[in-house]
Amino acid sequence: MRFARRTEWELTPNKITGILEDFKKNGQKILDLTESNPTRCGFAYSQNGLLNQLATPDNMLYVPLTQGLLSSRQAIAAYYQNQNIAISPDQIFLTASTSEAYTFLFRLLADPGDTVLFPSPSYPLFDFLVDLNDLERGFYPLVYNDTWVVDFAELGNHITRQTKAIVTVNPNNPTGTFIKKEELAQLNKVCCAARCALISDEVFFDYAFDRKAHFLSFAANTENLTFTLGGLSKTLGLPQMKLSWIVVNGPQDMMREAIGRLEVIADTYLSVNTPVQNALPSWLASRPVIQDEIMKRVCTNREYLLRNFTDHRLGTVLHADGGWYLILKLIGSVDEEELIEQLLLEDQVYVHPGYFFNFNEGSYLILSLLPLTKTFSEGVTRITARLKKQL
Ligand SMILES: Cc1ncc(COP(=O)(O)O)c(C=O)c1O
Repeated sequence: MRFARRTEWELTPNKITGILEDFKKNGQKILDLTESNPTRCGFAYSQNGLLNQLATPDNMLYVPLTQGLLSSRQAIAAYYQNQNIAISPDQIFLTASTSEAYTFLFRLLADPGDTVLFPSPSYPLFDFLVDLNDLERGFYPLVYNDTWVVDFAELGNHITRQTKAIVTVNPNNPTGTFIKKEELAQLNKVCCAARCALISDEVFFDYAFDRKAHFLSFAANTENLTFTLGGLSKTLGLPQMKLSWIVVNGPQDMMREAIGRLEVIADTYLSVNTPVQNALPSWLASRPVIQDEIMKRVCTNREYLLRNFTDHRLGTVLHADGGWYLILKLIGSVDEEELIEQLLLEDQVYVHPGYFFNFNEGSYLILSLLPLTKTFSEGVTRITARLKKQL
């Protein structure tokens, strides 16, 4: 059988995956500081309240609507209204996941061989989304200067006639920085000149460490054709419920045309299940409860790390504004792969290396802030001890 070239991925498990599989077989416990699945992190979620919403007779009626049920889209519009952003439900499309939303947008904007530019470092799923949509990989660097910022000179160098969209992750995974006002203005200029769209992945938007800080959502951006993505996997910590959304904004004509074409794409799949759409208004209204619980854990773990990882001979904790991760930049040129393996085999701690997120220079460890604080703090203690041994 000759399979499609786009699926020619390296499928043999790497060394780390092999070690993890052996651990699992032998029942060996590890401290997993890569855990990013909130449903495995011991949150209470006010479960009954959430699940009760699924027991309505309305769920026995199938109302296939291209953009999703109006009541769910109104609830999403209210979510943005809460940030003082006026969005009409007509500008919103529901999808089963953010990854699916990306695919809809790539099918809308790009032909095979075109390029979409992604930030680097960022989230590794983009590689597969590029392959599955027959796109060419394109990255623009973020540089660290007390905080991560877009390197606009380099971004300019990567733009070609084939560039159909620039993706921002706001705040980025794993660097945790939000796009600032000046950066949005620059991105608008670049996109206008290159006649390409902006896609802003804002799944972590509600998780700023400083709850009083104000950050900008691209959902309000009318300067340029802009697609803003959000979803329940992070907003409510419910990835299993499979509901995300796209907000379309921009100059009226362009926006109308994009909505018309997206309607056909969404109508072809109608992939969002009815029970979750019906539950969405009440679930979104209860988001402070879930978000407070998650933020409390994230902030406690963050404070632990900032207080305890202070030996500058080992490395530093990089600045982040929000999200579920923190980054340790290690001193010197530590071999990330070797270190990850040692941490796993000798200390039973699992962390992600920088290369997993496409970091270019230097050595990094990426720590999830979601695990139970007992697990997180013990993991940090073991990482610190391992790094000290290597001095
Ligand atoms: C930045 C970012 N966008 C999108 C996703 C995928 O979200 P979904 O579960 O809605 O596909 C993730 C998952 O971790 C993510 O980190």
